Amino acid sequence: MHPNMKKVLISEEQIVQRCSELGKQISDDYRNNAQPPLLVALLKGSVPFLAELIKHIELEIQFDFMAVSSYEGTESIGDIKINKDLDCSVKGVDILLVEDIVDTGKTLQTVKAMLKNKGAASVRVVTLLDKPERRTVEIEADYVGFAVPNEFVVGFGLDFNQKYRNLPYVGVLKEECYQTTA
Ligand code: XMP
Ligand code: MG
Repeated sequence: MHPNMKKVLISEEQIVQRCSELGKQISDDYRNNAQPPLLVALLKGSVPFLAELIKHIELEIQFDFMAVSSYEGTESIGDIKINKDLDCSVKGVDILLVEDIVDTGKTLQTVKAMLKNKGAASVRVVTLLDKPERRTVEIEADYVGFAVPNEFVVGFGLDFNQKYRNLPYVGVLKEECYQTTA
């Protein structure tokens, strides 16, 4: 375990196992769809999750990326800015948004509405983590890896000041590590 980590909440083995279950469920749900879904991953946090999840989807999917920002330090802020938009048109496309964590739900609500406005045929959401206690808007992911308690978590894509994204598990940092940006 990383020396700055207080505890591991979800191990790498649990994440891989859950991705295999989610991949199977997604494959089953879209198998008879007119077209396979376009996975739209939100940079940067969802990258490790996307990489694991797609190994378990048995469909000819494609993926693309968007970068939105709404987050400074450890508190979510409401307004969302697009830093990188999709490369392709989403008109008539069935989209599966890939998120690292749904917290207040504001990011998801905004991005979902944006994609629908651009003419997406459907928008579903798969998230590695869900923090239901923190929700301020009424929105739920269609596929959830794990529900986590109301604690700031890092690892498997999730960061604190851009660090710890490469840890292969999800956990909580020691309190002293949140006090400094060093
Ligand atoms: P909202 O509030 O819009 O926020 O649902 C979603 C985004 O907030 C970030 N977030 C976290 N990042 N550990 C993190 O590293 C956390 O515990 C956490 N909670 C929320 C994350 O970027 C997510 O996409
Ligand atoms: Mg994020």
